[in-house]
Amino acid sequence: MPCAIQASLSDLPDFVIFKIILGKYPMFITFEGIEGAGKSLQISRTHEYIRKKGRSCLITREPGGTDFGRELREVLLRPDGAPREPWCELLLYLADRHQHLKEVIEPALARGEIVLCDRYQDATRAYQGAARGIAPETIEEVSRFLGVIEPAKTILLDLDPEVGLRRARRRNSLDPTAAAEGRFEDEAVSFHARVRQAYLELAEAHPQRIFIIPAADDPDAVFGRIAVLLDQWIYG
Ligand code: TMP
Repeated sequence: MPCAIQASLSDLPDFVIFKIILGKYPMFITFEGIEGAGKSLQISRTHEYIRKKGRSCLITREPGGTDFGRELREVLLRPDGAPREPWCELLLYLADRHQHLKEVIEPALARGEIVLCDRYQDATRAYQGAARGIAPETIEEVSRFLGVIEPAKTILLDLDPEVGLRRARRRNSLDPTAAAEGRFEDEAVSFHARVRQAYLELAEAHPQRIFIIPAADDPDAVFGRIAVLLDQWIYG
């Protein structure tokens, strides 16, 4: 019944067809962690490492992985932006994610590229869920409705919030572009402690997906641990 098979395959998103053909999802890897954990540096080193080994790899981020998302990023992260309800903040992050999935992430996965994303759904669970107080099941329900997919693997750069905030605030004092996005750096240490705790609990709940990397060491040592994981996931 080839016609029946063709008809049902064409109903599926491209990245699911890829899973069927290749036997596994093309890699969708996210990077998470509190402020100042060093995600930007580690994600760009990961990108370089994978590219050098000859795989096609896309680096992107949230919020702000599309033109529309960049507009939302400014609204979301301006330290002097207007006050907003937690639900309004949640919906803006999810709007950014939906656009990002449709415009960038899913097409790249369908092309067979490795996608590296600087923050994604676990950030929503930690920041809007645990730290802002929105019920986790509500976040999951709205996200399901929007077609949010889970990443294949997540690297969680874990750091003491006091150390992370010190690093982030120092960076903002030297870099006006970073300072213009410093809304969350203005939150108290206790807020960031809730974010960290939520990330650690997510990692405990999803040990096959989320891998904790201690981020206090020097960046080369941190990347060394990431490279071991990449070798297993991509080349193992
Ligand atoms: P960053 O790109 O410099 O990490 O900053 C993004 C900020 O946005 C960071 O403080 C965490 C926050 N954020 C959320 O609160 N929820 C989300 O869903 C995402 C993706 C980010």
